[in-house]
Amino acid sequence: MEDELLKSLAKEHGTPLYVYDGDMIAQRCETFKEAFEDFPAKVRCLYAVKANSNLAVLRLIGGFGFGADIVSRGELDAVQKCGFDPDMVMYTSNSKSLEDIEEAVEAKVHVTVGNVAELEYLKKAGADRAALRVNPLVDAKTHPKISTALADSKFGLHIMGGIADQAVDSAVSLGLSVSGLHCHIGSNVRQMDGFLEAAKKVIDYAVGLKERGIILDFIDLGGGLGVSYGGEEVVSAQNFAASYLPLVTDAIVRLGYEPQFWFEPGRYIVAEAGVLLCGVNSVKKTPHKAFVNVDGGFNDLVRPAMYGAYHHMRVLGKEGEDAKYDIAGNLCESGDILGKDRMLAKVSAGDIIAIENAGAYGYSMASTYNSMPLPAEVLVRGGESDIIRSRQGIDELYLRQRMPPGL
Ligand code: LLP
Repeated sequence: MEDELLKSLAKEHGTPLYVYDGDMIAQRCETFKEAFEDFPAKVRCLYAVKANSNLAVLRLIGGFGFGADIVSRGELDAVQKCGFDPDMVMYTSNSKSLEDIEEAVEAKVHVTVGNVAELEYLKKAGADRAALRVNPLVDAKTHPKISTALADSKFGLHIMGGIADQAVDSAVSLGLSVSGLHCHIGSNVRQMDGFLEAAKKVIDYAVGLKERGIILDFIDLGGGLGVSYGGEEVVSAQNFAASYLPLVTDAIVRLGYEPQFWFEPGRYIVAEAGVLLCGVNSVKKTPHKAFVNVDGGFNDLVRPAMYGAYHHMRVLGKEGEDAKYDIAGNLCESGDILGKDRMLAKVSAGDIIAIENAGAYGYSMASTYNSMPLPAEVLVRGGESDIIRSRQGIDELYLRQRMPPGL
């Protein structure tokens, strides 16, 4: 998105402000789907709602025939509001209550279980099927906080040690059919080997189930396709899909039937389409560093503080690499640095810093820490912009607070 447009949006709506390029999101949806056009099996693309759950973004993505991967009753409500077909929705979380499962079953969405208790909840909720999330024990070679198939991960039923087998036995004895297998090895994965190793292990497991007479409707290989935040090499959607071809072709022969293959991209669809605009309050030099103090912080974008993530930045309307700055958030923590040692055009108070690739896990992880209201969001399509969430008001921060009598 052009600097002039972003500057005018910042002026109109204030900062911090998230702006999403709807045309890029649309293009990502199309590219991802098209990559599977010649796939030997039927494919479903389920958008991982946690990456960006704004209703307008969901509606846009749903319009491309995507289903949804959800993790909570809140996300279930969001996809229902946006008209997603429940058969295209997968509810996956490591920790679901009976009430969560009852609501999911009533909504007729698919549910994965990652422990035996959840099979019992499914039965109680009146379900007749269960999908099993398995842990194939694969190192996705990504940040440890977003690796989900390591030996000590909380996610999934380990294939090793007969844990998944016990869950299959429990499902059978409860009279639940095993409708699918699911795995997800991690997020922002930038090479194929982990994905393929996981797929192979899950397919092998499905072949074992076939020998027990269990025919699956689908094998869900999860999300995780990475994007380039700082020029790193990534796998294209085309190569991602093509890499699975031999495995899946072989799987269909070995299985003797054709399950559907499901994928759950989140970051790939929205990350690069989003920018977080922050206004510069002041610039200050210390004996060691120059700081750009902005009006956003890790309450708006937690990725740098939480994962040490790099987000490229630029000063809107200015070019050059005149000086080195740390971009300091406005929260009362030393760790609230959005970017370290960045070469930027000379920054002055009143400038706008654009923090790029912030469309995924940006707003969806935002908080009101330090009593900072949540930012606003704008969607740009075909040159037209719409506000899709207004800025939270300071008054709204107190809405649910109650003062006990006598205080
Ligand atoms: N499916 C499942 C079961 C998942 O747990 C996730 C992400 C996805 C799909 C989507 O993964 P993606 O395609 O977006 O990589 N907050 C972190 C990322 C956490 C991802 C959690 N699960 C970050 O900002 O990097």
